[in-house]
Amino acid sequence: MNTGVEDSTRYCFIAEWFDPQAALVRQYQLFFYPRDCSIEIFDLKTRRSFLKKTKYDAIKGSEYFVGNVINVYSRQMTLKEYGDEFTRKQLSTSQETTLAIIKPDATRFKGDILQAMSRDGFKVTQIQMCHLTKDQAGAFYAEHKGKPFFNNLVELMTSGCCIVMELMRPNAILRWRDLLGPTNTQQAQASAPNSIRARFGTDQTKNACHGSDSPESARRELEFFFPRDTSRSRAPANTARLSNSTLAVVKPQAVKDDQLAQIVKDIDAAGFNILALKSFNLEKSDCEEFLEVYKGVVNEYGDMVCEMSSGTCVALEIDAQGDPAKFRAFVGPADPEIARHLRPQTLRAKYGKSKVQNAVHVTDLVDDAPLEVEYFFRILSQ
Ligand code: RTP
Ligand code: MG
Repeated sequence: MNTGVEDSTRYCFIAEWFDPQAALVRQYQLFFYPRDCSIEIFDLKTRRSFLKKTKYDAIKGSEYFVGNVINVYSRQMTLKEYGDEFTRKQLSTSQETTLAIIKPDATRFKGDILQAMSRDGFKVTQIQMCHLTKDQAGAFYAEHKGKPFFNNLVELMTSGCCIVMELMRPNAILRWRDLLGPTNTQQAQASAPNSIRARFGTDQTKNACHGSDSPESARRELEFFFPRDTSRSRAPANTARLSNSTLAVVKPQAVKDDQLAQIVKDIDAAGFNILALKSFNLEKSDCEEFLEVYKGVVNEYGDMVCEMSSGTCVALEIDAQGDPAKFRAFVGPADPEIARHLRPQTLRAKYGKSKVQNAVHVTDLVDDAPLEVEYFFRILSQ
C-alpha cells in the first residue's frame, strides 16, 4: 500500500466473518486508516459500530487487499470487495492482479521463477499446481484455436504439471509481461537477456511462463483457475497423489515474509519431489482440527492455531520416497533456536523465528502422513 498517503486517507472494505456460534456469515464495513494503522468496523446488518476506531498494528498496511484474509483480534475476516469508489480507484491499480502460469517445460525452475517474481515486487496471493486436461488447455487458450501453433501449445500445456498463480503488485499485468519478455525465447535472449523467457525458455512454444495480456484477460483467466464461487467450480483439480507422501505447510508468517520461493528452492535442491502445491486460508476451526494431536501435549497449541489461521499458507505434498522421516529431518527441530544449534542446514534453522512461527509445519508422526496430506488436498480442497 502506498505510504505517501494523506493524513485523512481512509480505505473501506466489505468484510465477512463466519460466526461459528450462530453458524452464519456476518458482513461488515471495515475502515482502515493508513496514517496510524487504525481500523474501525461497522456491522452492516445491525447498522451498529462493531469496533470503534482503534490502532491495530498486528495487520500491516500491505495486508489490506480484496481477497485477503486478515485476523482481527482472533476473528478471521475475509476482505470481499472494495467498500467505496475512493478505495476502488486508489487500490485497483496499486493492487492490480494478474494470472501467471509456470508452464510444464519450466516447473523444474519454479524456485528461481518464484524468486524472480518476488525480487520484482510481486506478491503471490494464490497458487496451485495442476495438470490440465486437453479440454481445459483448449478452453484456456480458446483465442488461439485454428492458429498453426495451437496443437503444439495444447500438447505442451498438457505434457505435465503447471503452476498457476495470482500475482499482485502495482501495474501487475504490464510488469509481469515485461518480466516475461518476448514470446519467442530466442528473441527474448537477444533483446531481454534477464527476462524469464530468456533465462528459462526453450523455443517459441516452450517459453517457460504465461501472463495475462489485459485487465479483461486477467479477470477471465483468474476466474478460470481461482473462481470466486468455489461451490460450482469446474477449475482444474490439484495434483495430489495421496499415497506414499508427506505434508509440509509453509506457514502464514513465512509467506508474508516472502520466504516461499527460497523454501521451494531448498526443497528442490535437496532432491525432494513436490507432488502437489496449493495455497489456503484456513478457518480457525480447521486449524484446531488439523492440529488436534498437539492439544494438551504442546504448550503452544493455542498460538499454533492462531498462527496457522493468520493468513495465507501454502501446503505441499512431498514424495516420501518410502520414508517420511527423511523429509521430517530436513525440516528440522520444531524450535528454530535449537535447530540453529543442532541442524543449521534445516528449513526451520534457516527461516524460523520462534517455536510458533517456525516457517514450516511438517507431519511429525510417520503414521499421520497420509491423514495430513488428505486433510489439505482432499478434505479442504473439496
Ligand atoms: P502467453 O499467452 O502464453 O502469455 O504468451 P504470449 O501472449 O506472449 O503469446 P501468444 O501469442 O498469446 O501465444 C500463446 C502461446 O502460444 C505459444 N506459441 N507458439 N509460433 C509458435 O510456435 C508459437 N507462437 C505462440 C507460446 O507458448 C505462447 O506463449
Ligand atoms: Mg497471450
